[in-house]
Amino acid sequence: MKQLLSAGAVDALLAWYRENKRDLPWRHTRDPYRIWLSEIMLQQTRVEAVKPYYARFLETCPTVKALAELDEERLLKLWEGLGYYSRVRNLQKAARTVMEQYDGSMPSTYEELRKLTGIGDYTAGAIASIAFGVRVPAVDGNVLRVLSRVSGSRADIAQQSTKDGMRQALLPLIPEAAGDFNQALIEIGATVCVPNGEAKCAMCPLASECVAAKEHLTDELPVRSAKKPRRIQPMTVLIIRDGDRTALRKRPPTGLLAGLYELPNVVGHLGEDEVLSHIRFLGFEPLRIERLDDAKHIFTHIEWHMIAYAVRITPEFDGYHGASGLLLVQNDDLHANYAIPSAFSAYVKYL
Ligand code: ADE
Repeated sequence: MKQLLSAGAVDALLAWYRENKRDLPWRHTRDPYRIWLSEIMLQQTRVEAVKPYYARFLETCPTVKALAELDEERLLKLWEGLGYYSRVRNLQKAARTVMEQYDGSMPSTYEELRKLTGIGDYTAGAIASIAFGVRVPAVDGNVLRVLSRVSGSRADIAQQSTKDGMRQALLPLIPEAAGDFNQALIEIGATVCVPNGEAKCAMCPLASECVAAKEHLTDELPVRSAKKPRRIQPMTVLIIRDGDRTALRKRPPTGLLAGLYELPNVVGHLGEDEVLSHIRFLGFEPLRIERLDDAKHIFTHIEWHMIAYAVRITPEFDGYHGASGLLLVQNDDLHANYAIPSAFSAYVKYL
């Protein structure tokens, strides 16, 4: 592959970054733990959404040790609403490895970081370069878009071989200021070289040598092969309450939303009579039923199409409801202590 960027473009990129970078909380630290946390949170979540979570997480877990020792319920509660919960489970697993194998200090090489659970090529590159100044690339979706456009590459960015090729091509260009260089590419991708026909080429320090800018190809590049369509899952969600308590259920320890709490639900769209029989099957006595608004939640590989009912039941049950695995939880306690994923946010407002 021809050289991706000229030496002049690398300098222009660094100068642009130092002048234009956003003031973000994780840009005030070289602490590898904080940089790691920010990169994991930013993987599938917007910067503005991450900020308050980042601050709150660090109040509870200011160190790798604190994270390694936090109990699961509090950990999931800290991540509640951010989504992709495997990120935080992997974070804790890796924190425990750092305690056991590295005495609580994050390793400083790309290779050692890469071995930790949940740290892939991109994240290992980001931590090694930003926290330790190691000259390694950090190629995420933003950077793939920038590099595809600059070089006019039509390689499919969904392919691992394209990512590997871009990393190889970047390697010899990385300056001493490796962390700034990688963040500059991320920043250009996030604020200038943006998707959906809105690229701001007039503001871009790379425009003079960008193939896509010169040939008006920003709407065509990058090329990404179509993803498999998501599976549609029809569901009926139940808000079962007896006055001041609501039924919740803990999800299984593996799979989608593992270990989080959910409103009881069944597969399929049930009519009122079917719901009432189901409520009795669960061992409750229904008093009233009301249909609520429909809602959708889109995950990476699946879409939940939800209909919902609020069902008032007689208040004669203890907190834990036997074989069905349902818990009847006081509403105050529910908001304070139970992590309910945002897939249910359309219904959590009723609680
Ligand atoms: N997205 C991924 N990493 C980022 C970072 N360090 N700053 C801003 N946005 C990012």
